[in-house]
This record gives sequence, C-alpha cells and structure tokens, in this order.
Amino acid sequence: MANVLVLHGPNLNLLGVREPNVYGAKTLEEINNAITEEAGRLGLHVRIVQSNHEGALIDAIQEAHGWAHAIIINPAGYTHTSVALRDTIQAMRLPTIEVHLSNIAAREEFRHRSVLAPACVGQISGFRWLSYILALHAAKGLLDQQ
Ligand code: DQA
Repeated sequence: MANVLVLHGPNLNLLGVREPNVYGAKTLEEINNAITEEAGRLGLHVRIVQSNHEGALIDAIQEAHGWAHAIIINPAGYTHTSVALRDTIQAMRLPTIEVHLSNIAAREEFRHRSVLAPACVGQISGFRWLSYILALHAAKGLLDQQ
C-alpha cells in the first residue's frame, strides 16, 4: 500500500469559520474525513498533519522520509514566502502535489506566485475541498506509473 503525507499549513485549522465564501464551509475535520475515505477507496494510506508553524511542517516532511511515497501539501500563507519549505521538498525528492482550496491566480496579486510550485510535480487550485480529492487521484496516478 502506498503512503501519502497530507500537510495543511497555517490557519487551515480555522476552516469552516474562516472566510467560508473563499475557502468553503467544510471544517478541517470534515475535509480530513473525506481525504481518509477517498484514500481508502484508492488503496492509499494517509498521514495528515496540520500546523501553524513553518518548522513543524518542515519536520513533518523530513520525518516522512522512508515512509511516504508522495506528499500533498496546502502550504497556505507559506505558499508565497517559504524558501525553507521549498528547500525541504526539493531535498526529499518525493513527488509532491501543491493544493489550494481557492483559485490563487484569481485573487490578490501577492497570491499569484507560489515559491513552492517549482519544487512540486504540479498544482491543484480552486476546487475548494475537492482540490485534496483531486490531489489524491493525482498521487495515485503518479505512484501507479512508477
Ligand atoms: C490557500 C491560499 C493562500 O493564499 C492562503 O494564504 C491560504 C489558503 C488556499 O487553500 O486557497 O491560507 O492556500
């Protein structure tokens, strides 16, 4: 069974109450349940981590070494700033899929650029909670091809 690390960055613990018009009405717990169910259907095993701290996200990626076959990450605000997270993704050399609930290209200009994107296989943005489900399918497809 393939193992996938799913990472949620800062403020995503507030989903459900945080700007539901932008991010949708589902709570993080509801999204995590949907991720776990879909992963089971796809034959993937997921470990899900949320942190508001850049270093904790970096630690989670490093600690997944030897266990994870792929990473799905919504870096949230760190998308636009974190050279450190990008370096970690690049160092781990695991297929990594960047996910956003909102369509970052349709929002403020500072959100258009992802510092992490060049280190990732690709990006899924704008499908709200379904972005994670699509990312699971992308991970499954990538791993099946390996
Ligand atoms: C986000 C988009 C980011 O610009 C923002 O800082 C977030 C969430 C998204 O999922 O749409 O916190 O990553």
